[in-house]
Amino acid sequence: MNLITQQILSENEVLEKLRSKRIGLGYRAMFSSYLGGVVTDPALMQIPIDDHLVHRGHGVFDTCTLGNGHLYRLSIHLDRLLQSAELARIDHPWSKTDLAKIITETASISGVQNGSIRYWLSVGPGGFSPSPAECKEACFYCIVFDPVPLGGASNSKLKGIPEATVRGVPMKPPLLAKIKSNNYLLNVLTHMEAVDLGGTFGILVDDDGYVAESCVLNAAFVDKRGVLRTPPFEGILTGTTIQRCMDLAQKQLIPEGLLTGLEQAPVKASDVTGDQISEMFVCGGDTHIYPVTSWDGIQVGQGKVGSVAQRLIELVEGEADRSVQGDRGDYTKVHYKA
Ligand SMILES: Cc1ncc(COP(=O)(O)O)c(C=O)c1O
Repeated sequence: MNLITQQILSENEVLEKLRSKRIGLGYRAMFSSYLGGVVTDPALMQIPIDDHLVHRGHGVFDTCTLGNGHLYRLSIHLDRLLQSAELARIDHPWSKTDLAKIITETASISGVQNGSIRYWLSVGPGGFSPSPAECKEACFYCIVFDPVPLGGASNSKLKGIPEATVRGVPMKPPLLAKIKSNNYLLNVLTHMEAVDLGGTFGILVDDDGYVAESCVLNAAFVDKRGVLRTPPFEGILTGTTIQRCMDLAQKQLIPEGLLTGLEQAPVKASDVTGDQISEMFVCGGDTHIYPVTSWDGIQVGQGKVGSVAQRLIELVEGEADRSVQGDRGDYTKVHYKA
């Protein structure tokens, strides 16, 4: 390791280093309100170090999917971003329409038809105190990147995943849990402890023994009656993917006979590894639905990918890349320049 810290780098050396570290990462375009435009050179996709997003976590974010030249469900993601910004007391000048326009134009400049778009609203740069009073301008950043698996093995949707209860990481206090903020240390530690225990994303269980959520996913269950159940959004993030799964379950899986009903109701963790539950899955990020086949080493249901999760994966992925007909959800068309 090169430990020379006293070398003063020239502008060219900095750019060269940044370019050499950003090869092949699939970062296609980034908008920065701080710069007032879009860059397509990954070396230039940077956030100022004095932005309070970086050193205080005073920023919020969201992500949506770009499928076949359309932004999938941008509206619900922007509603949550704006709600998070309000709860985090970030004053900013952008309306939902403004943000949608910036995101759509960044997607257009990127030329990417299938990818992910992540965007951040922050109190902005200004110094290193905790007070946003020193920040001169709120900032919006938005990046288009190639799709990446969320974690676990690449075939985990087909095979199912093992999960583990995470006990060494506390749940967030409800205010923080409701804000999709840059304070994701507890989420990361949840994932890491789960992996240490032989799980994948980790399942948090509250003090009364009820399932809360996973590190960046909501949890859902099919009980013995054939009812799809997910915990209430109290003290956890209001997941957009689980909401879509519940909609699709109502509109398609019940009529198809795969389910008998839906419920947003508490789920006792001990019921899952008892015999009350026939299927479990975790879901998030628009299209990531992972069937859970074992929990803390105990088989869930038949220990196989269940028919409900399988059907939801098919429907959600098909919707996002626009390959299936049916209830088409919400799309924003990106107009690419020729
Ligand atoms: C803590 C947490 N729970 C649940 C989710 C799932 O939310 P969504 O389905 O909107 O991606 C996320 C997503 O990032 C999350 O961070």
